[in-house]
Amino acid sequence: MAPAPPDLPAPTADRAPRTPARPRRPTGPPPGPLPAGGDRLTEDELTSLAFLILFAGYENTVHLIGNAVLALLDRPDLLRRLRDEPERVAAAVDEFARHDGPAPLAIRRFPREDVAIGGVTVPAGETVLLSLASANRDPRRFPEADRLDPFRGHSGHLALGHGFHYCLGAPLARMETEIALTALLERLPGLALAVPRDELRWRPSIRARGLISLPVIC
Ligand code: HEM
Repeated sequence: MAPAPPDLPAPTADRAPRTPARPRRPTGPPPGPLPAGGDRLTEDELTSLAFLILFAGYENTVHLIGNAVLALLDRPDLLRRLRDEPERVAAAVDEFARHDGPAPLAIRRFPREDVAIGGVTVPAGETVLLSLASANRDPRRFPEADRLDPFRGHSGHLALGHGFHYCLGAPLARMETEIALTALLERLPGLALAVPRDELRWRPSIRARGLISLPVIC
């Protein structure tokens, strides 16, 4: 072994080349505003990303699980089939997201210049709201688009966005939903609605498609 560097105490000398351990919790004051420009995030971008991860990451997945469970309670034939074939739940998650996804709208866009789309000119600076829910029911892409069919195979839906801003948490969302649905189907054989269907209340929001609560009995 190489001799210990003279400025290190003897017991740590053999570990000197290792990267120092990262503290388990952040220490010291929070970092100040980050410089704008370059490839660094601005403070505004960082704040909005933190909100996005917290709310989009939590609420969307909760709503997807709730919407999927309700869809299965509406369709006992599908519920039975997925219970019998749990290996199909993973693929079914994408169909639940396509058919009744929790994020019907994309995040707002603002064109930097006039854009012509489908015979309409969107002036620069206007707010553009893209309907992912509408795209996901496009009959040119999805035959019988209104029909929930967890066995239609990979569908190329837009429930998790597309391209540059594709959902950062997509693998986590898929995994959480698959685990939750698989566990519910396996562990709760008597799963059923605890209230009449028309008493269920949806969140009063155009941005979030999700139930306020889903009372069930098992
Ligand atoms: C079922 C659950 C989820 C759905 C339906 C969903 C949906 C979406 C959609 C549609 C977009 C694109 C928005 C756009 O282009 O305008 C998006 C982006 C994003 N999602 Fe999710 N999401 C889900 C779960 C999560 C989770 C679990 C996380 C984080 C832990 C997350 C974090 C993000 C972030 C940070 C972005 C922005 C990515 C970017 O702008 O580059 N999402 N999500």
